[in-house]
Amino acid sequence: MADDLDTLRADIEAALAGAADLRALDAVRVAALGKSGQVTGLLKGLGALPPEERRARGAEVNVLKGEVERALETRRATLEAAALDARLAAERLDVSLPPRAAAPAGPEAGSIHPISRTMEELIALFGAMGFAVAEGPDIEGDWHNFSALNIPEHHPARQDHDTFYLTAPEGGRRPVLRTHTSPVQIRTMLAQEPPIRVIVPGRTWRADHDATHSPMFHQVEGLVIGRGIHMGHLKGTLVDFLRAFFGIADLPVRFRASYFPFTEPSMEVDIGWSRRTGELGQGGDWLEILGSGMVHPKVLANAGIDPRAWQGFAFGMGIERITMLKHGIPDLRPFYEADLRWLRHYATSPLSPFTLHDAA
Ligand code: PHE
Repeated sequence: MADDLDTLRADIEAALAGAADLRALDAVRVAALGKSGQVTGLLKGLGALPPEERRARGAEVNVLKGEVERALETRRATLEAAALDARLAAERLDVSLPPRAAAPAGPEAGSIHPISRTMEELIALFGAMGFAVAEGPDIEGDWHNFSALNIPEHHPARQDHDTFYLTAPEGGRRPVLRTHTSPVQIRTMLAQEPPIRVIVPGRTWRADHDATHSPMFHQVEGLVIGRGIHMGHLKGTLVDFLRAFFGIADLPVRFRASYFPFTEPSMEVDIGWSRRTGELGQGGDWLEILGSGMVHPKVLANAGIDPRAWQGFAFGMGIERITMLKHGIPDLRPFYEADLRWLRHYATSPLSPFTLHDAA
């Protein structure tokens, strides 16, 4: 190749190596291959050469042009990769950073209702103890809601003034809005083989309405079925749960003999509080908080489980009630009124989901 072409190639290569970004690279391209670029100028000058020289020189200039084009492409690829790396580094998202609670915040932007929040907490706390979540329908049959649970035909819970009934289908029994989450005990035992460990948060219905009762409310059921399950398991589970939920490590818990048709023996569970100040954990008074007991052998048998081979315990509690106690909420009715002032006070940010650290 002619010396002047070698020199030009060396110049262009040096300029390419010195081009630090895509903009500088484009300047090198224009200077070499643009309309009035150096290589373009050489191609244009060929016409002035005598024909015999023109051929050989033309071939050389075209080779140079091809080399320059490839070198430009190579450098462009290198610079684009570097630019991408730089962008990735600069715009990296640290997903472990806490979220910024930027405006709009507060209930107007959406918040977690105390009922949902308590359900999240129940699922997290019992989840850590190996409980899965089970669900059932709000509209139940008489058998699941009452009979399978050993609730006799004339039990007060079945009375029309206590329970919401729907119209009976032709020749059938009236469906009911479930009066508790206990029918899901039956559904779960029928649907899966023991061992079983579930909680059932959900809506329940009773014909009741005052400052502490709403016709629609929420319960959480618990059911554990296993071999050799005994009252110690029931007590340990509930004491651990109540202390974690209320965040009081030495919360006094009392088990008091009681009666439910579907558990035997049955116990109501109280926690210690002060009737005077409303403070939980001290004060020498007792507050009833949930019902529990060993699953009645007849209930196991009704649900197809051999009561000689399997034992279990169950419990049920009101979600509104434990939420009111935990947060000092005096009245049940605002839970369902969607009053922004109330929500602003008691609802939680969706940016702070419940974790087990909160319960430590
Ligand atoms: N279903 C009972 C109620 O609604 C609570 C309960 C559940 C009691 C499970 C014992 C066992 O009052």
